[in-house]
Amino acid sequence: MKKLYFGSNLKMYKGIQDTEKYLKKLEENTKNINREEMELFIIPSYTSLPEAVSCCDSQMIKLGAQNMCWEDQGQFTGEISPCMLEELGIKLVMIGHSERRHVFGESDIEENRKVKSALRHGIRPLLCIGETAEEKKYGISGEILRQQLKIGFYEIDPEECKNIWVAYEPVWSIGVNGTPATAEYVQKMHMEIKKALREIFGDNAEQIPVLYGGSVNPGNADQLILQPAIDGLFVGRAAWDADAFDKLIRQAIHTYKRNKNY
Ligand code: PGA
Repeated sequence: MKKLYFGSNLKMYKGIQDTEKYLKKLEENTKNINREEMELFIIPSYTSLPEAVSCCDSQMIKLGAQNMCWEDQGQFTGEISPCMLEELGIKLVMIGHSERRHVFGESDIEENRKVKSALRHGIRPLLCIGETAEEKKYGISGEILRQQLKIGFYEIDPEECKNIWVAYEPVWSIGVNGTPATAEYVQKMHMEIKKALREIFGDNAEQIPVLYGGSVNPGNADQLILQPAIDGLFVGRAAWDADAFDKLIRQAIHTYKRNKNY
């Protein structure tokens, strides 16, 4: 079966102790889920990363950072360098999360600089893309996603595809005020994304998993995971309790296997 990806961005929640407790519990709960079938990753706050690295087994849970600067060092007050992430052994970084783009005003050009820098440092970029409600209203979702991908991956060698993940997170579906996207809509957008990735990278694009995020919950996870163009789920609120996340993952894998006759 294809590998399924499950991950969560803890955003600006959970301090050091809560992150440790959460990770230990999640690792224990999920220890008998075969990692050949599933990739599990968690993206905690920066301040929790050192303790997170020492409290969980990287074979079981991959840890990522929520953002990083494209420069290695310099006069960039408040930024975190890829070298600092490397120092901690962090091998994954989320780039261009909707909140970075829309609350902090990051542009596609900046995301491209970060993608390039991450790859240069051997850190896997998880590029997040998604259209706003207004862009969806005007029927330009596909164009927006294409643009975010074409700029975000500008001048990236197709050989790097094996080191890249993408998450589709429509802005209108994220967070407490978000409206969950239907599985059919997500499948359609993932097809657009995969087509654009093929245009950019050629056949190597097949190696890039495309995850869906935005109000994923126990009620819609099963339908989403069954869509052929969805390779995994990037979960926010519904994943921040280790028991609940473990349950959601198990149920989704079970549904997937039952429907695909594994
Ligand atoms: P949500 O967050 O699941 O709470 O909507 C998703 C995200 O921001 O990645």
